[in-house]
Amino acid sequence: MKKQWWMETVGYQIYPRSYKDTNGDGIGDLPGIIEKLDYIASLGVNLIWICPFYQSPMDDNGYDVSDFYDVDPLFGTLEDAKELIRQAHDRGIRVILDLVMNQTSDEHPWFVESRSSKENSKRDWYIWRDGKKDRKGNLLPPNNWASFFEGSCWNYDETTGQYYMKIFSNKMPDLNWENDELRKAMAEMAKWWLDLGVDGFRVDAIAHLAKDITFRNSKMNVEPGHFAPDWRKFSNRDRLFDYLAEFHDDVLAHYDCVTVGEVGGGANEKEAERYAGLNTKGFNMVFNFDHCWKNGAFGDEGRTVGKLTTDVIDLKKTFERWILGCEGKVWMPQYWLNHDHPRVVSQYGDPDEYHRISAQMLGAVLLTLPGTPFIYNGEEIGMTNVDYDSVDDFNDVWVRNYVPSARKRISEERILTHLRRASRDNARTPMQWDDSENAGFTTGKPHLKVVGNYKKINVRNQENDDESVLSMYKRLIQLRLHSDLKDVLIYGKFELIQDNHPDVFAYRRYDEKNEVIIIANFRDRNVIFEIDYDSYDIVCSNVKNSGCEFMPYEFRILKAKGG
Ligand code: GLC
Ligand code: CA
Repeated sequence: MKKQWWMETVGYQIYPRSYKDTNGDGIGDLPGIIEKLDYIASLGVNLIWICPFYQSPMDDNGYDVSDFYDVDPLFGTLEDAKELIRQAHDRGIRVILDLVMNQTSDEHPWFVESRSSKENSKRDWYIWRDGKKDRKGNLLPPNNWASFFEGSCWNYDETTGQYYMKIFSNKMPDLNWENDELRKAMAEMAKWWLDLGVDGFRVDAIAHLAKDITFRNSKMNVEPGHFAPDWRKFSNRDRLFDYLAEFHDDVLAHYDCVTVGEVGGGANEKEAERYAGLNTKGFNMVFNFDHCWKNGAFGDEGRTVGKLTTDVIDLKKTFERWILGCEGKVWMPQYWLNHDHPRVVSQYGDPDEYHRISAQMLGAVLLTLPGTPFIYNGEEIGMTNVDYDSVDDFNDVWVRNYVPSARKRISEERILTHLRRASRDNARTPMQWDDSENAGFTTGKPHLKVVGNYKKINVRNQENDDESVLSMYKRLIQLRLHSDLKDVLIYGKFELIQDNHPDVFAYRRYDEKNEVIIIANFRDRNVIFEIDYDSYDIVCSNVKNSGCEFMPYEFRILKAKGG
């Protein structure tokens, strides 16, 4: 395997809306990210992924793009974007953007044209179909496929009396990748950003570019009046890989860039190779979701009641399946969460009593697994899920679509508990910089409420504390990128230890020269984990301890003696 610069990086994902507001409008902006570049550099990360800041009506916070070539005035200007790239590069930090290829906003000029008439030259850039009539003559969508954001994946458009496809919100019409001109336009756009100096992309919702173009009904059983969540109809389809190969040849092959595709929950390790194999014409890595939902978050109401207890065996075997399935074939990204998932310390750690220790333990796992780790902003200080006491405090488009239908089924209280655990807003609250009003994020009114624990959990507190979550993340990043264990942590092999231990996630990283062992207790109680501790030195840990008894959420990174 050829070593590449992006294998030797630690990424940091920034959700611009919630990172740092510099003009008091309550919305984070690009000048805010520029202002925090020294902080970002102080973490030791050498790559940032910035979520969309293109012009957008913000139905889905920027994933609904109305102009790919400009920055939304809420976030700043194109000059700010250039300045941000320049200043990041000055600090040795590469910058990747979020490339949104599956859809545009319904306010994008392409769609405005496309919907204007059936004859318009951009008509075929989107997916238009006639509706059907039921026996009573009522108009129905072209088929029974569901959207990810509730309801049908089709929306009726009066101008021409047809439906357009939209697997996300009504304001996010899907592009028709079968159309040659559209594919060219997307390639042009990606090149334009690469020429401007960005170092690559996280490619949004990439699994969905190709649809089943027979558009036949799904055979999945659904209650009458409901739509079928048959994601295969528009996920991971063969045709998609032709589009990717073309995109690779036309665009990616000409730049020294890195790409991470988001393939979501449907794809497995074998499909990952089709997307991002070391010898595949596609991306460099793909994000999968399999480990994110182990404690039940996304969507499923039944899984968000009661105390969370991690199924540690299931969790570690999920990692193992991907890691071994990809070994030597696909380079993986690793991450605990992004802007679509709950906060990891609330999900697999303990946001209260063992906040510090458990957040550190999760960081240690992330930063010692094979693959390129991505830290999500706020994770480095252990930010938690929201404490909102009203459904109206949430704002995600998924929530806005979900709540009216949920209210017909379940109580307000139940909706609230569900959202506090599952909503995407858990990860989208303002970054907690200090203990001043609104956590130092804005001098105005923040677009989402700050989580109440900001007086305790914030960057300023932790920067001055050697024992903090933040200090631990910094230490772990140094260990991964700059220590004598760098090679083994980045390129070494992976093997679970005592894979059936119900409480501990432990593994070995090894190469010809070194052996490192990582032991992480995922429980809020003491557990026993036996190995021959005398043969190892402790390299890093979050509790002063030794021997085979592990404190709650204790982790240890050990190195073989004499190695
Ligand atoms: C991806 C993004 C998510 C967005 C969706 C539609 O899953 O991460 O935030 O809503 O794609 O673009
Ligand atoms: Ca602002």
